Amino acid sequence: MAMIAHQCPDIDVHVVDLNPERIAAWNSEELPVYEPGLYDVVKQARGRNLRFTTEVAAAIRESNMCFISVNTPTKTHGIGAGRAANLEFVEKCARTIAENSDSDKVIVEKSTLPVRTAESVKRILSSSKSDIKFDVLSNPEFLAEGTAIDDLLKPDRILIGGDNATAIEKLADVYKHWVPNDKIIRTNIWSSELSKLTANAFLAQRVSSINAISALCEATGADVDEVAGAIGTDSRIGPRFLKSSVGFGGSCFQKDILNLVYLCEHFGLPEVAKYWEQVVVMNDYQKRRFSTGIVKTMFNTVSDKKIAIWGFAFKKDTNDTRESAAIYVCRDLLEERARLTIYDPQVSIEQIRKDLEYLMGGVDGQLTDTQRRVLNENVNVASSAEAAAHEAHAIAVMTEWDEFRDCDFKTIYDSMMKPAFVFDGRNILDAEKLTKLGFEISSIGKGEG
Ligand code: UDX
Repeated sequence: MAMIAHQCPDIDVHVVDLNPERIAAWNSEELPVYEPGLYDVVKQARGRNLRFTTEVAAAIRESNMCFISVNTPTKTHGIGAGRAANLEFVEKCARTIAENSDSDKVIVEKSTLPVRTAESVKRILSSSKSDIKFDVLSNPEFLAEGTAIDDLLKPDRILIGGDNATAIEKLADVYKHWVPNDKIIRTNIWSSELSKLTANAFLAQRVSSINAISALCEATGADVDEVAGAIGTDSRIGPRFLKSSVGFGGSCFQKDILNLVYLCEHFGLPEVAKYWEQVVVMNDYQKRRFSTGIVKTMFNTVSDKKIAIWGFAFKKDTNDTRESAAIYVCRDLLEERARLTIYDPQVSIEQIRKDLEYLMGGVDGQLTDTQRRVLNENVNVASSAEAAAHEAHAIAVMTEWDEFRDCDFKTIYDSMMKPAFVFDGRNILDAEKLTKLGFEISSIGKGEG
C-alpha cells in the first residue's frame, strides 16, 4: 500500500489496523518490518497521501476500494488443522467492511487465500442490510521479502481476477500509474486465487528438487552448485531458485503448499495432494539432514559443545523468522543439549526466544521443565558473528547474510576450539580458503570427489 501511495499521489491510501502499537510503529522512524528501501518509500508518501490509523470504520466509509490484507495462517485446531488456511481474520474483515459501508465499493483480496474464498467474502458482503454493491476481486501479491521494493516497482506481472470488467479496470488503473498495461493479467477470480498458490508451490518445488539432488551429490561426489549451474543454463529450466540450502522458510511456501494439499484432498484428488505434499516432506528432510549431519560430524555428540548459529532470519535482508530453517535446526541441536550462541544482524533476542519456545512447546504449547531450563541456559545471543564463534566448537551458517562472507576467518579460527567445524547451510563461504586456514568445513551437496 505504501508503494501504491508512493506511485499514485492522486490516490489517498489509508492503512488501518486494530493494533495501536503496530500503527504507532508505522508512524514512527522505526518501521515494524525491516525491508531495504521501505522506509524511504513510506517517508515520501506518509503525511501526503498515505496514512496509518486505527480508525477502521471511518476509513472504510471514505473509501472506493478496500484491500483485505490480513494474515491467513495455517489452522492450528479443528478441521484441516496443520493444513487449511485460517480464514477467521478475512471473514472478520469482510464483516467489518459490510457493517461500515454506505456506498458501493470494490473489495480486493490481497491476502493469499484458498481457491473459492471470494465466494464466501461475496456472501458475507451481500448479506449486509442495504443494497450496496460490492465487487470482489482477487489481486495476489508476488513480492519476495528482502527485495520487496524492487519487486513492487518492476513486477513481472500484476494479476487481477474478477467477474466484473469495470471493477477489474478500476484496479488496473491504479497499477497503470507505473506498470505497463501488458504486464497486467486479467483472469477469472478462481484462476487468480489458484495462481498464487501454484506460483509458490512451483518455486518451493524447485528448491526441494535441488535439495533432493544435494543429498545425492553428497553421496556420489558431485557438487550441487555445479549441477545447478549446468542445468540452469538450459533456457527451459532457467537459473533461478536452484540454490541448494538448509531448507526453505518464510511465511508463504509451506503454508501455501499445505493449503494446496488440503484443497486437493477436499476436491477428491489424493494423488495430486500427495505429489505436492512431498515438496514439504523433502524440505523437512533437508532441515533434519543438516542437524543430524552436524551431530554425526562432531563425533556423534554435541552435548555441552558451543555452536555458533550465524543467522536466524529465513533469508537475508529481512528480520522475518517465520518458518526459518534456523528454528528447526536449533531445536534439534538443543534436544542434543548443545549450547547455542546465535547472531543475526536484524532479529531480536525476544523473537529468537519466542520462536524456539513455540517450536519446542509442541502441539499443546507447553514446555517441560527440562525444555525451559535448556532454553534458559543453553541459548545465548551474540552481538557479532565473531563474538558468537568465540570459543565455539562449530559455526553453522543458517542465513546468507552478506557480512558473513567478509568475516576475519583467521582470527575466528584462532578463537575457536579445535577441530574448528563449519557447517555452511547456504554455501556462501569460500570452502577452499577456510580449509587452508584449518577449518573442517561441510557444505550442502558437496561430495568428496
Ligand atoms: C516467496 C515468493 O518468492 C513470493 O513470490 C511470494 O509472494 C511470497 O513467498 P519469500 O518467502 O519472501 O517469497 O522469499 P523467497 O525469496 O521466495 O525465499 C523463500 C525461501 O526459499 C527462503 O528461505 C530462501 O532462502 C529459500 N530459497 C530460495 C532457497 O533455499 N533456494 C533458492 O534458490 C531460493
